[in-house]
Amino acid sequence: MENKISKIVSLTKRRGFIFPSSEIYGGFGSSYDFGPLGVEMKRNLKQIWWQEMINNHDNIVGLDAAILMNPKVWQASGHLTAGFADELVECKECKKRFKPEEVKDNKCPECGGKLTKPRKFNLMMKTFVGPVEDNASTAYLRAETCQGIYMNFENVLNSMRLKIPFGIAQIGKAFRNEINPKNFIFRTREFEQMEMQWFCHPKQANKWFNFWKKERINWYLSLGIPQKDLRAIEIPAKRRAHYAQRQVDIEYRFPFGWGEIEGIHNRGDWDLSNHSKHSGKDLKYFNQESKEKYFPNIIETSVGVERSLFAFLVNAYQEIKGGRTKTTKAVKEAEVVLKIHKKLAPIKVAILPLVKNKPKIVKKAKEIYKTLKPHFICLYDQVGSIGRRYRRIDETGVLLAVTVDFQTLEDKTVTLRDRDTMKQERIKIKDLVKVLKEKLES
Ligand code: GAP
Repeated sequence: MENKISKIVSLTKRRGFIFPSSEIYGGFGSSYDFGPLGVEMKRNLKQIWWQEMINNHDNIVGLDAAILMNPKVWQASGHLTAGFADELVECKECKKRFKPEEVKDNKCPECGGKLTKPRKFNLMMKTFVGPVEDNASTAYLRAETCQGIYMNFENVLNSMRLKIPFGIAQIGKAFRNEINPKNFIFRTREFEQMEMQWFCHPKQANKWFNFWKKERINWYLSLGIPQKDLRAIEIPAKRRAHYAQRQVDIEYRFPFGWGEIEGIHNRGDWDLSNHSKHSGKDLKYFNQESKEKYFPNIIETSVGVERSLFAFLVNAYQEIKGGRTKTTKAVKEAEVVLKIHKKLAPIKVAILPLVKNKPKIVKKAKEIYKTLKPHFICLYDQVGSIGRRYRRIDETGVLLAVTVDFQTLEDKTVTLRDRDTMKQERIKIKDLVKVLKEKLES
């Protein structure tokens, strides 16, 4: 099964989804860049989430807060103290750090040196702001996007004249100095989060927690993740994040085992009461009708963009033994199809002239490409045999292929091939935009 991951790593590089960062210098730890197809897929994922949270629910508004914030935010939130840390041992010789469960006989797995006792190492990424590098100029790259939401709780509440319950949603980068980044884009030091913070009355917190848990599970199911590969795990108190009164992890069955893709947390009044205490600003909510004043409880839904994208990629990856296109080579080796959900697929339509040495066919295909491009993310490809090109677009997850052939020149029709069913039908060129829209939006 691990093999499947290496195949996905190599496919996503070959087809322009994900590249190792600064590769010509040997890469950089767990950093990855998203190529032309990866960036489209990521944009789709974020757009679908945004649409789901903001458009499909009442009373949720968006925000885009700064990555760099006053360091006091992280003091108050508990991220600079032991709560946000990994327990590690350090080699006294080479200074490398390991999780206690990774070592045997108290010896460094790398150089054999003696190890320190387990200590907590904080995960916040430090930087310096301004011309002097000293303690006074230390700042942190945010470790979770939601703190920017809490900082703007009052601004949003007042400017938008909201009433509890309401939500604030945000998508953005987060950074953690992970000691043990691993499994491709599963655990990295720089990643994106899509977080929604739902502010509600404390007495309603459990009801809303259950509501959001269900909503979020349904979201993955609606995007094609099968129930058997998805589970929601209630996390016991001793393993919960330091701010959470209740925590459910939504996990996906990766080839390397179950892995968390989203956390649902009841943060109680941890954040607003701590920020009130540390800033001196009263962040309680005042209900005009009941005259009740209280700290709202926060139910949080927090998705990792790259992690969930990884789950969608793994879910989409299929090998068809014996091949499915008619090229002679294809029957010998397995063909790969990325059956990415149609809303997530980076490229929706490919336009392929059957042959490249017939100028009339090529001209018509280019004309069709120009007509379709304003409507859909399209790709034009005339390199190689048609069988090879079908294989290439299948590997890329392209949903529909429009092939321009000899018959096109006679009756103004094209062949439309469906990635998943392999069904081919003839469509009139003048109906193409309408038919493609129907297929992609159904
Ligand atoms: N604000 C709550 C919060 O940050 P979390 O469980 O620490 O909760 C939420 O993170 C999600 O962010 C995780 O479910 C995961 O998808 C993603 N995530 C966390 N750390 C990550 C890392 N090092 N690399 C990639 N994604 C990560």
